Amino acid sequence: MTEEKNYTQPMLKENALEGKVIVVTGGGTGLGKAMSKYFSELGAKVAIASRKLEVLEKTAGEISIESGNEVLPVQCDVSNYANVEKMKSAVIEKFGKIDVLVNNAAGNFISPTERLSNRAFDIIVNIVLKGGYNCSLSFGKYWIESKRSGTVLNIVTTYAWTGSAYVVPSAVSKAGMLALTRSLAVEWAKYGIRFNAIAPGPFPTKGAWERLLPGDLVEKFDFRKKVPLRRVGEHQELANLAAYLVSDYSAYINGEVVTIDGGEWLQGAGQFNLLEMIPQQMWDQIEKAVRNANKKNNAKQ
Ligand code: HXC
Ligand code: NAP
Repeated sequence: MTEEKNYTQPMLKENALEGKVIVVTGGGTGLGKAMSKYFSELGAKVAIASRKLEVLEKTAGEISIESGNEVLPVQCDVSNYANVEKMKSAVIEKFGKIDVLVNNAAGNFISPTERLSNRAFDIIVNIVLKGGYNCSLSFGKYWIESKRSGTVLNIVTTYAWTGSAYVVPSAVSKAGMLALTRSLAVEWAKYGIRFNAIAPGPFPTKGAWERLLPGDLVEKFDFRKKVPLRRVGEHQELANLAAYLVSDYSAYINGEVVTIDGGEWLQGAGQFNLLEMIPQQMWDQIEKAVRNANKKNNAKQ
C-alpha cells in the first residue's frame, strides 16, 4: 500500500503557540521531548522538568538552537510537592507566568504483580499519579490565586480505562489521572482552567521500550501486529495533537481524552475482532456455511 506520510509533518500554523509559557514534565526525553520541541518551534517558551538535570540541559540546548526560542531546564522530582513548588517559582521567575502544564512524566516496568514489593508499587504511583496531582494542584492554585486561565494536558494510556495485567501500578495511576482530568475539567472550568488527556498507543521511545519490551521481547511482542493500522506511532503526530490541545484552537474542548493508537485498544475489545485472522479466501466457504444454516433454519419454521 502506498501511503501519504503527512502525519510526520508539523500541523499547526506558524507561531500558533507564540506568547504561551508551557511546562512539560519529563520533557527531556521521549514523547515529552518531541512535544517540547514542537511547542518551541510554534513559538512557545517551554520549561522542561524532571530529575536528571544533565539530560534536561542537553535537550533544552538542542531544542532552543533549532527553534530559536528559550527553553528552561528545571530539575524537579514531581513526586515531591516542595520540588514542584520550587519548579513552578523558577519558571514564573524566568518567564513571568505559566499558561500550560503537560503532565507527561512517568515510570513503568513489566512485572507479575505478586512479585512487586510495596516499595516497587509506590515508586510508580508516586511518579505518575502523585506527580500528576502534585503538579495539577500546585499550578491550579497559582492560576486561581492570580486570576489567570490555564490549560492542563495529561498523558495517560489506553489501559487507563481497560486496566492491564503486568503493569498494574501504572494502570492504577493512569486511571487516577484520567479521573483527575474529568473531575477538574468540571470543577475548575469556572476559573478558566481546562483539563484534557491524550491516550497514546505504542510510540517507540527508549524509556518505554527498555522497560516494557526488554531483550528479545521487542521481537516477540511486535506492537505493530496489535495495531489494526499495522504500524506504531510517529512522535510528530502525537506532538501535533498535543499542540492543538494546549492551543487556543481547542478552547471548547474540556474533559476529553483523545486516543491516538491506530485502533489498538478497540481491536482487543471487540468480541469478533479475532476473525481478522481468517484468510480472505476462506470467507466464501464461511458465507456458504452461514447461508446454509439460515436456509435450514428458515425451512423448519
Ligand atoms: C519487580 C522491581 C523491578 C522488576 C524494580 N523493581 N524493577 N520489582 N520487577 N522488574 C523494584 C525494586 O526491587 C525496588 O523495590 C523498586 O522496584 C524500586 O526500584 P529502584 O531500584 O529504586 O528503581 P529502579 O528500578 O532503578 O527505577 C524504577 C523507575 C525507573 C524509577 C520506575 O525505571 C525510572 O526512572 N523510570 C522512568 C522512565 C520510565 O519508566 N519510562 C517509561 C514510561 S512508559 P525494593 O522493595 O526492592 O526496594 C509508559 C508507557 C505505557 O508509561 C504504555 C506503553 C504502550
Ligand atoms: P520516557 O522517555 O521514559 O519519559 C518519562 C520521563 O519521565 C523521563 O523524561 C523522566 O525523566 C521523567 N520522570 C520519571 N520520573 C520522574 C520524576 N519523579 N519526576 C520528574 N520526572 C520524572 O518515556 P515516554 O515513552 O516518552 O513516556 C512519556 C509519557 O507517555 C508517559 O506518561 C507514558 O506513560 C506515556 N505513554 C507512552 C507510550 C509509549 O508507547 N511510549 C504509550 C502510552 C503512554 P528523569 O529520568 O530525568 O526524571
